[in-house]
Amino acid sequence: MRQYRIQGGQRLLGEVKIGGAKNAVLPILAAVCLNQGETIITNCPRISDTFDSIEILKSIGFRVAFTENTLKITAGDGIKHEIPDEYAIKMRSSILFLGALLATTGRASLALPGGCKLGDRAINLHIEGLQAMGAEIIQQNDKLYCKTDGLKGTKIALDFPSVGATENLMIAAVNARGETTIKNAAREPEVQDLARFLKALGAKIQGAGTKTIKILGQNATTTKVTHKIIPDRIVAGTYLVAAAMTKGEITLQNVDPFDLTPVTSYLKEMGCTLHANPSTVTITAPTLLKPIPFLATKVHPGFPTDMQAQFAAALTIADGNSQLTESVFNCRTSHVKELRKMGAKITLTADKCTFLIEGRPKLNPATLAAHDLRCGAALILAALATPGESLVQNANYVQRGYESIESDLTQLGATITLEKI
Ligand code: EPZ
Repeated sequence: MRQYRIQGGQRLLGEVKIGGAKNAVLPILAAVCLNQGETIITNCPRISDTFDSIEILKSIGFRVAFTENTLKITAGDGIKHEIPDEYAIKMRSSILFLGALLATTGRASLALPGGCKLGDRAINLHIEGLQAMGAEIIQQNDKLYCKTDGLKGTKIALDFPSVGATENLMIAAVNARGETTIKNAAREPEVQDLARFLKALGAKIQGAGTKTIKILGQNATTTKVTHKIIPDRIVAGTYLVAAAMTKGEITLQNVDPFDLTPVTSYLKEMGCTLHANPSTVTITAPTLLKPIPFLATKVHPGFPTDMQAQFAAALTIADGNSQLTESVFNCRTSHVKELRKMGAKITLTADKCTFLIEGRPKLNPATLAAHDLRCGAALILAALATPGESLVQNANYVQRGYESIESDLTQLGATITLEKI
């Protein structure tokens, strides 16, 4: 087990580079199954989810070399269609191999996906969409057994713009016969990066980033592809909130300011000053953060759910009361009880989706436990803003999505170490 040890109360100052996006590289590593040749992926984050996806690729027959932040993936002779349970249950994104394996081998079997516990995390939209394309999917003892005689293009309307379902169906549609239309598709930047990768394979895709995506199947013929992963807007947003909470001033390099707009607009509402250049963002924090009367997470381009826990932490030390609603997941609250250990005043409504946060001048240091990836990040931020020594246990959750949070924050002047316990 590992934990972060943090001496809080120091202002964050300086510059830090942002790496590639976890939620872009994971669907792209599933889509690599479509390429029978060589795939080079650059700006790839060295996070545990990447390593787990690499193990899945190796287990189904690919050769993978990972040097610094560059992945080289080469198809072996033949792809296996069964994903080992130990990897399938480790993360949510293993479900994305379903569409990829059906599209390439006509079969797929994998355990139901794991990942952070954020409420239901159903997969009905994935299943229903693939069935509409001609897949037979049976669930037995927490495993999915799938096969198809050949996927067919069709029209699919998602009743929720699910990021993963959109990505799974895009990947499957690349090899389907005919055209697939996905209506009410997710519009996240990571969905758009997947589309860019699939187009590099030769796929004919229109509308990525809009609510309607059209894919004309059976055009992916390119077998040597190089793709650079987009910057991680959630890691970037996390560091911006860290600066905001510590009265700091930092500059992030290698970011896309446009993708950060849903986050920077609310940091401005809290009294921060932000300046953007084509690939950098600079934030200057006020001495006291303003509350946000009403903030709700939405699908892109709204305020991202993956920044909810970090903003909840920031609002606990704002100068007044805030209301924060989680509307994407039905239970993304594991950070609340941990922040309360620091003296945060947070009340949850009965549906556990709205937080009433009473801002306090400061929190108290404490021993905390991460229960999921962004919960862990939020607790680190709260500890950075609080004078004294705090511990954040279960660091493995944070390492799923942050390549080097302790060295990045140290570079910005924080006192934080990662230690074994
Ligand atoms: C992706 O998860 C991200 N993960 C999540 O990031 C992110 O929070 C989420 O999108 C929303 O932006 C990856 O990309 C690997 P969804 P995903 O399908 O695809 C419901 C992080 O911290 N739903 O858009 O699982 C579901 O229950 C992680 O980096 C169905 O009902 O998210 C949820 O309430 C956490 N049926 C909502 O949709 C389905 O078939 C959003 O889920 C699928 C989803």
